[in-house]
Amino acid sequence: MSSCILKIENITKSFAGFIANKNVNLEIFEGEIHTILGENGAGKSTLMNILTGLYRPDSGNIYINGTRVNIKSPKDALNYKIGMVHQHFMLVNNISVFENLLLSMKLDSFVINERKLKSKVKEILREFELDIDIEMPVWKLSIGQQQWVELIKLLIRDSKILILDEPTAVLTPQESEFLFTFLTKLKSQNKAIIFISHKMKEVMTLSDKVTILKKGETVKTLNRGEFDEQLLAELMISNKEHLKLEKSAKVFSKQILKIKNLNVKNDKGLSDLSDFSLELFEGEILGIAGITGNGQKALAEVLTGLKKPLSGQIIVNDQDITYSTSKSKYISGIAHIPEDRKTMGIAPDLSVDENLILKNYSSDKFTNFFFLNKEKIKQNAREQIEKYSIKMGYDGIPVRLLSGGNIQKVIIARELSENPLILVALYPTRGLDVGSAEYVHQVILDSREKGMSTILISEDLDELLKISDRIAVMFRGKNMGYLSPESATKTEIGLLMSGKK
Ligand SMILES: Nc1ncnc2c1ncn2[C@@H]1O[C@H](COP(=O)(O)OP(=O)(O)OP(=O)(O)O)[C@@H](O)[C@H]1O
Ligand SMILES: [Mg+2]
Repeated sequence: MSSCILKIENITKSFAGFIANKNVNLEIFEGEIHTILGENGAGKSTLMNILTGLYRPDSGNIYINGTRVNIKSPKDALNYKIGMVHQHFMLVNNISVFENLLLSMKLDSFVINERKLKSKVKEILREFELDIDIEMPVWKLSIGQQQWVELIKLLIRDSKILILDEPTAVLTPQESEFLFTFLTKLKSQNKAIIFISHKMKEVMTLSDKVTILKKGETVKTLNRGEFDEQLLAELMISNKEHLKLEKSAKVFSKQILKIKNLNVKNDKGLSDLSDFSLELFEGEILGIAGITGNGQKALAEVLTGLKKPLSGQIIVNDQDITYSTSKSKYISGIAHIPEDRKTMGIAPDLSVDENLILKNYSSDKFTNFFFLNKEKIKQNAREQIEKYSIKMGYDGIPVRLLSGGNIQKVIIARELSENPLILVALYPTRGLDVGSAEYVHQVILDSREKGMSTILISEDLDELLKISDRIAVMFRGKNMGYLSPESATKTEIGLLMSGKK
């Protein structure tokens, strides 16, 4: 019999009157992978931040192995053997992996035997079959490898409770697979793993138990065998109305965008796009499949005027916009949902209302002569918040304090509200709960009816197959060719994604 290693009893936490966690109850056992599932803004990250000592609860109790504890700081949490892999890795990029590990250990103890630490790290690498050079600077590692470094940090401290908040949101499917093997091994060593994800397939394969949080409250805990995707979705979603995606048949005739032999280099002097060509039709959803890091980001950046190509041509509606700036008419008609929403998509300290009009605050819609019209801005915000069910806590809250998924919704709402000519969307549903992801798909399809063309960059083949009119595959900065979602198989797409024709 495994024992209850962590018990959460009636935890409540509010921010300026907004209740993010309300009487939450949860029991975590040794040797289990326990998923916390809930809509964007349900209070999952808040609860984890309480467990790791970043937030103090207003009331309630936490027990470790039956003893009541008071977690006042991240250091306390580590002493209680609770460790967390944060979504934004806390690594220093220009020093080596080992120096990073050393640094993190030095923060909680003065005396460190470097030799001993190194041999412990090597032991962990061997045990988990991690292919990583610990003398390598962190910036040279893939995202997946950086995540391993965060996990190693927890293992050298011998953490017993490991928290992973949406670890797979930034991973490629292959990296996710590897992570799951890693977690299964940790589980067999009797560690307790708290896992958060919006990807239902992962939740189904990985979880021994699932606890559902809804509007800050625990709904229930289910054991493996007692849940399926359908039931979980029903329990977590507050808006029961189920969307049925409608996609009309269409014939495309007018080319809206043509990219010819584009070459783009990145800051390190490597090619991001090499002889990249692409055509997009009016009203078409062109899915772009590919493993992250094969030039997708550069493609979005040249199209939106954030980056200049070395050579090649971008033509929109017969106009050459290759060297246009973001102020030009055509570029401003291209909406962008960026990959890194926290650094590129929002003004973090401004309110939701303000963020929703960032792109068009000077338009007549929101001004009276030269002055901003507060009432119109408020009205616009009310509509968008309702439409996208953005959960934002208290009124006037700076957008950076919203939950991850809700920040994403603010960006999407703003970018689509202007009826753009072309939408360039990078991983638009990453981090969105199932209901919100479906809603975003519906909005893209509705805009397609109105003639908007979309470049949908995604790693999720189900998403691409579901809403694209055609699918192109990117590999090492090149377009590997087009496929039809009606006839293409996942294997076919997968082969092209790895460069095999
Ligand atoms: N420091 C804070 N100040 C004010 N409000 C906050 C703060 N942290 C969280 N909140 C609010 O608490 C609510 C729950 O947020 P939380 O990040 O826990 O959600 P989540 O379940 O992790 O959602 P997601 O799936 O989108 O990550 C949100 O409405 C958020 O705005
Ligand atoms: Mg969260």
